[in-house]
Amino acid sequence: MQKSIFITGASTGLGKETAKLFQSKGWNVIATMRTPENETELSKLENVTVLKLDVTDPIQIQEVVNQVIAKQSVDVVLNNAGYGLIGPLEALNDGQIIRQINTNLLGVIRVCKAFTPYFRRKRTGSFINVTSMFGLIGYPTCSIYAATKFAVDGFSECMAYDLAHFGVKVKIIAPGGIQTEFTGRSMDGGQDEAYQELVEKVSKGYSAEKVSQFSTPESIANTIYEAATDDKNQLRYIAGSDAIALYEERLAMGAEAQYRKIQTMFM
Ligand SMILES: NC(=O)c1ccc[n+]([C@@H]2O[C@H](COP(=O)([O-])OP(=O)(O)OC[C@H]3O[C@@H](n4cnc5c(N)ncnc54)[C@H](OP(=O)(O)O)[C@@H]3O)[C@@H](O)[C@H]2O)c1
Repeated sequence: MQKSIFITGASTGLGKETAKLFQSKGWNVIATMRTPENETELSKLENVTVLKLDVTDPIQIQEVVNQVIAKQSVDVVLNNAGYGLIGPLEALNDGQIIRQINTNLLGVIRVCKAFTPYFRRKRTGSFINVTSMFGLIGYPTCSIYAATKFAVDGFSECMAYDLAHFGVKVKIIAPGGIQTEFTGRSMDGGQDEAYQELVEKVSKGYSAEKVSQFSTPESIANTIYEAATDDKNQLRYIAGSDAIALYEERLAMGAEAQYRKIQTMFM
């Protein structure tokens, strides 16, 4: 039987590539986004439904989920919508912090909450939540972004225990850098002179040359496809060679030693 995936943040980047990949594999795709009126590519594809959804709007989430499950079955929910709020804490205002948590963390929690009774009753289904390597390993100038991604990681691990009783899976995709609009249009931030030296050092990791070495969204979408179809009881999928190397280093040298190593890189 044809399977279905529900995706948040499918207007660009990883969400859009994942929509295209699953469609090409014969899946039915519900591609949600804030501005479906601007979508020209996905809306032309067979078996793709484009719907409006802003993950910071709890009422809209419940309405869209109710509307979708009344019409069709859903097998996988991909919580992908998110953006980066980057900069030293002192440079970020309360509104920016609230918007980041509302989108990257509460958005995931709300979408999971809306689908959970449906998956529980069906006794099948998978949540796939996109975090980041900065959801497993801290990094300078990423305090609030990492706070949301570490939180999604912990939320997902706990939910995986709760839902295992009902045959429902929860998986985490933790990518390294991806060549998307994330470091451009999707980036929010702030500056504070006191942190200029640190910010300059961190910025070197986002030079055009470094970004060109990031994973393609297609390759991370392949990892999402693997997580959706491998039938494994696996919680975390570290995606991209940079993330895999950093995570393997953490396991090999230990978290404290790696923390000190990263710290010396920025002193
Ligand atoms: N790129 C990286 O280096 C990287 C690395 C690790 C993890 N990630 C994670 O990967 C995910 C996808 O990011 P990306 O790299 O594909 O970046 P992207 O191309 O900027 O895509 C981000 C998507 O999230 C959507 N979005 C933002 N706020 C939303 C909201 N309130 N409601 C619904 N959708 C919203 C955007 O929609 P609009 O078009 O409406 O703005 C866009 O579709 C994010 O969770 C990000 O944290 C990215």
